[in-house]
This record gives sequence, C-alpha cells and structure tokens, in this order.
Amino acid sequence: MMSMNTTDHDGGAQLDVRSIYGRIGSEAFWKIARAFYARIDRDAQLRGMFPADLEEPIRNQAEFLMQYFGGPETYSARKGHPRLRMRHHPFSIGVAERNAWVAAMDGALADAEIPDPDRTVMKKYFATTATFLMNRDEPI
Ligand code: HEM
Repeated sequence: MMSMNTTDHDGGAQLDVRSIYGRIGSEAFWKIARAFYARIDRDAQLRGMFPADLEEPIRNQAEFLMQYFGGPETYSARKGHPRLRMRHHPFSIGVAERNAWVAAMDGALADAEIPDPDRTVMKKYFATTATFLMNRDEPI
C-alpha cells in the first residue's frame, strides 16, 4: 500500500519527499523560487507566459514547494487546493515549454546549492510533474 507521504508524482523516490523541508528549511525554498524566476526573466521562450511583475509568482512557487516538501501549508491557506493541472490550463504547455521549465528549475536548484540526495529527489519530482502538466496535443 502506498504511504500517506508519497504521491504518484514523486518519480518513485525512495526518500520521503515530505522530509525535505525539515532538512533544507524555509530560506532554501525562497532561494529556489527567486533563482527560478531570475532564470525565467532571462528566458526568451518562457518569459512571455508570466506576468511582468514576478513577485507574486515567486511567492506562489516558494509557498507551494514548501508545502509539497513537508513544510507549512501556507499556500493552501492562501489559495486553496493546488490543483496544478487546472491552474496551468490557461497556458499552452508542450514538450518545448516543459523542457525549458525543467531546465530553469534544475538550474535554480544548483543556484540555490540544494545538497544531495534532496536535489536529486526534487529533480525527479519536477521532471515527472512537468510532464503531467503538459496540456497541448503534439505529434509524437
Ligand atoms: C513541476 C512542474 C511545475 C510545478 C510544480 C508548477 C507549479 C506552479 C504553481 C504552484 C503555480 C502558481 C499557481 C497559483 O497559485 O495560481 C504555477 C504557476 C504558473 N506556472 Fe507552473 N508549475 C510547473 C510547471 C510549469 C510548466 C512546465 C510551465 C510552462 C512552461 C508552467 C507555467 C506556469 C505559469 C505561466 C504560471 C503563472 C504564474 C503564477 O501565477 O504563479 N508551470 N506553477
């Protein structure tokens, strides 16, 4: 039976994703979110999908990730259930967008100097979830 603390989007990670917050702490998630959006800001392919002011996206991402990786449930207290598929519906996400997003996040994990094994587990989660969020039909 599946543990309460794993999801089907964690890439089959053996390590409990909800123990990560306890090891790396709140500031690490703010660093990841700031580094991620600094990369988005320089990304010619993705920049146009995001609002001009990136402060709100930074906060959304930091609070969501803290919650997912075992920290306080601030994101849901403020915004309700994450429902990521639904919240990404307005954006056209194909293979190119998914890959650019994942590259920006992998870079952000490096910028924020997230240590292993947590970095590897987080990368697996992002790769799997970004695939799950693709919503544009494309030829295979
Ligand atoms: C692991 C994959 C991903 C995760 C965990 C994730 C997470 C999130 C979260 C939590 C939000 C804020 C939603 C809200 O509270 O309103 C968001 C917004 C957004 N996401 Fe993603 N996302 C992922 C992949 C992608 C991909 C692949 C794209 C397209 C390239 C994308 C584009 C956007 C855009 C344009 C927004 C709006 C900015 C905002 O309101 O924060 N996301 N995402």
